[in-house]
Parts: sequence; structure tokens; C-alpha cells
Amino acid sequence: MRALVVDIADSTRKKLCSFLRERGYDVVTADTGRDGMLLAQDSAPMVAFVAQQLPDMDAEQLIPPLTNLGVDTRVMVMSDAVELNRAVHAMKHGAEYYFAKPLDFGHVAMILDGVEALQRSNRETAHSRRMDRRKSIRTPTIGESTQIIKVQRLVKLLAQNRTTPVLIMGESGSGKELVARSIHESSGVSGPLVEINCASLSESLLESELFGHEKGSFTDAKVLKKGLFEIAAGGTIFFDELGEMPLAIQAKLLKVLDTNLFRRVGGTIDIRSDARFMAATNRDLPQLVREGKFREDLYYRINVLPITLPSLRERGGDILLLADYYVRLLGESMGRSYMRLNSPVEELLCAYGWPGNVRELRNVIERALILAGSGPIAPEHLPADIRALHVIENKGTSDTGKLLPLRQVEEEHIKRVLCATGNNHSRTASILGMSRSTLLARLKKLSPLS
Ligand SMILES: Nc1ncnc2c1ncn2[C@@H]1O[C@H](COP(=O)(O)OP(=O)(O)OP(=O)(O)O)[C@@H](O)[C@H]1O
Ligand SMILES: [Mg+2]
Repeated sequence: MRALVVDIADSTRKKLCSFLRERGYDVVTADTGRDGMLLAQDSAPMVAFVAQQLPDMDAEQLIPPLTNLGVDTRVMVMSDAVELNRAVHAMKHGAEYYFAKPLDFGHVAMILDGVEALQRSNRETAHSRRMDRRKSIRTPTIGESTQIIKVQRLVKLLAQNRTTPVLIMGESGSGKELVARSIHESSGVSGPLVEINCASLSESLLESELFGHEKGSFTDAKVLKKGLFEIAAGGTIFFDELGEMPLAIQAKLLKVLDTNLFRRVGGTIDIRSDARFMAATNRDLPQLVREGKFREDLYYRINVLPITLPSLRERGGDILLLADYYVRLLGESMGRSYMRLNSPVEELLCAYGWPGNVRELRNVIERALILAGSGPIAPEHLPADIRALHVIENKGTSDTGKLLPLRQVEEEHIKRVLCATGNNHSRTASILGMSRSTLLARLKKLSPLS
């Protein structure tokens, strides 16, 4: 859960911050309306506390951009003196509640209890509605790193251009299938998404799966069978592990892409296909082309606007964002109350290389939640190869084994956490267990050295 506090008054900001953090919120703060707005776009808070009077605007001006973030943000306005007509005015503009200063935290807690319960139930209704429709996106593409934002932009573009072939490349577990589904689901097509794993079938079975067969076309063909190209009419046909497709089928596939026509096995008439082509692979296709294992003409035909998914280790701050997402999601399904990850665990997650990408992270969090029972996740709940990083990272010696001065160890550590969070100051400060302003002061001191 994230929260935003916008107030020029230092003491209100500090007190609210520590109150909200204790409740499990990740808090970002600003002292002007403009900064608040920018931070909100980055962090998409669930609740925002906004002072009535800000240096550059009134709370009423800030409410609409906050409530339009698309994440059900609730805005609380705080004022030095409660004036009834200002309160009514603020609520009319979409404020959830109007508090008088100094804040009575018992009262704030009560209001937040209600807001959180409402948001939870809204989320659950939205979730079950999504599950009902089955066709809509089940998992959002979580991430704020520049690499994943670029991916999200391409997803949008490809959803709008429904005839362009889609090629998704990336390491195992990096989210290729998730991206394929989200392009299909956001393109508003009426037909289904049908998926075929090219590695799982022999050449002849793959051919009859794709194109179907006429009755009697071979010994086992007792009845007419429709192929996936026909089933995917008006929708998408998704070739997973495309790099494993046999060359003979590649040639047939290219023909369908070029002509939009195909024939059932044993058939004599051409059938028109309007299914959109999508494919994913974790293989290096240009390399397969060089080795003669993938047709060059097919590669160029589908490589129009390829999406290359970044590995998780390249995504910096997304590691913690995804970890928190899974703590919440999987924890909820286990009936656990939400507890944010503590700094030693976050540090280990950031230091690890994640060869199995998001899938591995999800598994690690699930395992840790089970081992932790109802308590917080601790380093000993992580797999041994992640835990081992603790010893290596904290040795306090240089590469040559020389003992280092504390200041240098500290500097390197701050830089490492900054890097892992993608330069996010609030998150870095929270991992390091210091306030954002202390971190900024430290960075100022460090900069002449770095
Ligand atoms: N950005 C993301 N946000 C949320 N969940 C993600 C994200 N990327 C991947 N996941 C999750 O990680 C898991 C693996 O993703 P997916 O199956 O799409 O990977 P893949 O690239 O197709 O893997 P493989 O190459 O092994 O088939 C899924 O549970 C998926 O929901
Ligand atoms: Mg996959």
C-alpha cells in the first residue's frame, strides 16, 4: 500500500509519515502541489493526505489529478481550522474526508479502517468480475523501470495495430506469455487467444493441430478436425517457443502469413484466416537463422515491432516492487495479514541475480511466506543461494582482501542500494533505515568522493 503526504508543515508531514509507515504504507512526501502531483504519477498512492493550503495551489486543485490516477486513490484534506463550507467544497471536489489539525490519529485510523475495507472489497469485486470474464487480464504488468515502461508502450502500440505480427523475446520467466495475453486482451478483438507450444509436438501432429485435417486424410483421422487457425478466427494464435518449430512447418506458416490462406491436411480448398499472429521465444532467433535452424524470410516477416523483455536483474527497483506485489497477492490468498518486507530481506533480494526472472521471484516469495507462517519474512526463509549473498556482500573488505574504512563500506552500500532501487530516494532511504532527508544529506557529502 502506498500513501502520499503533501504539506508544507514539517511536523505534520513527519508525524503522518511515521503513523502511516507503522500501518504498513510506503510513504512519499512533498511540500508543494506540483511535486505532489509528480510523485503521485510515479507512486500511484492508495491514499493521499493533502493540506488545504499549499504554496502553489489549493487542495481542491490537487484532488482531480489524484483521483484520476486509475488506482482508486482516496484523498484526505487537512486544514488548520475546519470551515464548514470549505469542507463541503473539498468533498464536492472528490475528497474522501476533511481533518482538522492537529490531527487526531485515533480518528485518522478509524477513517482509514473504513477506506481500506472499501478498497479491499472494490478490488475483490473487480477481481471476481475479471475472473468471470476470463478473457481479461489476470495479472497486471508490474514495473516502473524504464525498460518495462518501454515494453508497456509497445504493448499499447501493438494492441492498437491489430494486424501487425507480434514477436516477444526474453529469458525464461521474464513475462513473455503475460505480455502476449495483455496485447490480445487490450486489442479488443472478439475471438479467442489460442496457444500452441511448438516444442511439445512432433512435426506431423503440429501440422494437423495448426491446420486441422479432413476425414480420412491419414489413418487416425477418423473425423474432420478443425485446426487452431480456424479456432482462433477473429482472435489470436500464439506460438510459444517458436524457436523450436520444425523448418517444414515454418515454411507453411510463412505462407499463411503472406496469403492469409491455408488448407486442412488432406484438404483441397483454401480457407481464409484472420487470426492475429503472436509468438514468443527464449532462443536467440538471429543466431538460429545463422545456424540454418530458423528461416530467415520468416524471421523478417515477424520481426516488425519486436518486444525484447528485460531480465529481472536489469530492472533494478522493479525487484522490490514485484516482491511486494507478490507478498501482498500470495499473502492474501493464504489469509495472512500484510507485512512489508524488512531491509535485510530487501537487500538480499536486490543483490541476487534472478536467473529464473519473475517466475523465480514469485516462487521465492511464496516459499518464504509458507516458511514464515504468520510472522514476518526473515533472511532464513530465503533459499540458501540468496542467503549466501549476505556473507559476500557484507565482508567489509576490498577485492584484494584489504580491510576498508567504515566510510567507504557505507558509501558503497548506499550506492548499491540506490542502484538496486533504480535511484529511487524514498525506497533507498526506507531500505537503509534512514529518513529521505538524511539520505539526501549523506549523498551530498558523498558526491565529492564519487
Ligand atoms: N511484469 C510482471 N508483473 C507481474 N507479474 C509478472 C511480470 N512478468 C512476469 N510475471 C509473472 O511471472 C511468471 C512468469 O511469466 P511468464 O509465464 O509470462 O514468463 P515466460 O517469459 O513466458 O516464461 P517461459 O520462457 O519460461 O515460458 C508468471 O507468473 C507471470 O504472471
Ligand atoms: Mg512462457
